[in-house]
Amino acid sequence: MISTLLIFGLLAQATPAVPVYGDLPPVASQPGTTWMPPQASAEAVNVDNTFYFIYWVSVIFFILIVALMIYFVLRYRQRRAGELAAGAATHHTTLELTWSAVPLILVVIMFVMGFRGFMDMVTPVRDALQIRVQGQKWNWIFMYPNGAVSAELHLPPKVPVQLTLESADVIHSLWIPAFRIKRDAVPGRYNKMVLKDGVVLPGEYLALCAEYCGTQHSNMAARVVVHESFDSYQRWLADAADLFKTRTPAEVGAFLVKTRCGGCHTVTGAKHIGPPLNEVYDHDVPLATGEKVRGDDNYIRESIIEPRAKVVAGYDPVMPTFKGQLKDRDIAAIIDYLKELSEKKQ
Ligand code: CUA
Repeated sequence: MISTLLIFGLLAQATPAVPVYGDLPPVASQPGTTWMPPQASAEAVNVDNTFYFIYWVSVIFFILIVALMIYFVLRYRQRRAGELAAGAATHHTTLELTWSAVPLILVVIMFVMGFRGFMDMVTPVRDALQIRVQGQKWNWIFMYPNGAVSAELHLPPKVPVQLTLESADVIHSLWIPAFRIKRDAVPGRYNKMVLKDGVVLPGEYLALCAEYCGTQHSNMAARVVVHESFDSYQRWLADAADLFKTRTPAEVGAFLVKTRCGGCHTVTGAKHIGPPLNEVYDHDVPLATGEKVRGDDNYIRESIIEPRAKVVAGYDPVMPTFKGQLKDRDIAAIIDYLKELSEKKQ
């Protein structure tokens, strides 16, 4: 066991500090500890303390038991052929009380540490920053109180945060290793996840999906950006709430396509889960029914609102609807961008 642990320890150190998941840009993360990602939240410290307590108790008992076992095997082995075993022991009250009481105390300590940490993560806090998180095949969407919606989770430092999780289709699970928090996003109910003291270490981290949810489960990752200051977070939030203030519609469209559609569609002509988006506008799109449809404004709008109405030949009908998630102005911006993409190519 010890050697396995050592090998894992060495592997953990040999792994590059900047993991790349799917099409996600490299995450410039803070350095982690030997075994764990960085401790970016107060919860991370609690979780690690509990983990290391259990870990060292296991190591100490492993060494104790194996050493005693080897000693007893040698000490009480059969020395001569035909030698009979010594009489079986009956009982030893002090010894029995000790080996019952010590483990009992240890597991009670483990329970209290774990239970306190768990309660901290699910008990709502007054004045926490409220962010809604929606999981869907296969991306995360974060919704802020001022109406901003983003594919990255942005947080200010040292402010209590409450994430409310929901799912548009199947069970997903939001897992942010650097914060040591994980909770399921279940369709039809809201699950809460609380960071009582907020995030303590500014930087960029990964959020992953920890519940198998289909073919692209392993690519269902999002970037978590913890700002250096509350001001910097608020500036980002104000900008994210009104994308159109500083951008042309086509630029907003490019941003939306990248963040909301990029998990399944490319704009380079390469096939992915869905068809490439640079070959839609003003193109004849072959459908699964054998018919063809002209890629115009109406077809694009319909494909966003009701994706399974006209499924493109060669692809599975797996796209979720974006009805209610994208406003009319957003859809118009996406159409502008797709038009621009298709014109550029000709
Ligand atoms: Cu979503 Cu796995």
